[in-house]
Amino acid sequence: MRIDIITALPGLLTSPLNDSIVKRAQTKGHVAIETHDLRTYSTDKNKNIDDYAYGGGAGMVMSIEPIARCIEHLKSQRAYDEVIYMTPDGNRFDQRQANQLSILKNIIILCGHYKGVDERVREKYITKELSIGDYVLSGGELAAAVVADAVIRLVPGVLNDETSALTDSFQDDLLAPPVYTRPAEFEGMEVPAVLLSGNEKAIEDWRFQQAADRTRTRRPDLWEKFSGENES
Ligand code: ADE
Repeated sequence: MRIDIITALPGLLTSPLNDSIVKRAQTKGHVAIETHDLRTYSTDKNKNIDDYAYGGGAGMVMSIEPIARCIEHLKSQRAYDEVIYMTPDGNRFDQRQANQLSILKNIIILCGHYKGVDERVREKYITKELSIGDYVLSGGELAAAVVADAVIRLVPGVLNDETSALTDSFQDDLLAPPVYTRPAEFEGMEVPAVLLSGNEKAIEDWRFQQAADRTRTRRPDLWEKFSGENES
């Protein structure tokens, strides 16, 4: 998989994309991530990438020309499955969408700034708009890093233990059950006995029960969906 991220602030993405699992995924050749500094696509002498909003009002708007130049340049090199724009008014990103994106070959992610991009960018180039939640970040970079991280860990081969993404929270519409490691007792707090029993069936049942209880109490919305889909 290849992810091209278009940004006015590439520095914001350096650390999240060059550490841990996301770094290993690149080193092992499972994904290629490239960031593209929008300013290098500005033909303006001051390397501007934004301008005042037509009609007035506070806040600058990202101009269409540098973005168009960058996207056209990328598209001349390969075909893209999606051109995604990170914006608080996009569709809410979730695990289902992470799964869908993880099987694509090439995607572009455009990070917004200021008051957003000229609407014509969205009309002409954008195929999917994503929000990571109902709050406003200073720019789309951190949101793009969230999406890239969630997607990359699902790309086959990225995780060492292939099954571990399958047991993540949300992967089956349930929150994950509690987990424990040594010591078996800490200041009188004991690990549930069933986990030390070696009885695989009992452990599996306990984990499912815990996941179900957690989902029902913490996320009734998810629980409703799960119960609906698992009705017999
Ligand atoms: N840009 C600013 N805020 C955002 C959000 N919540 N999600 C995606 N992109 C954003």
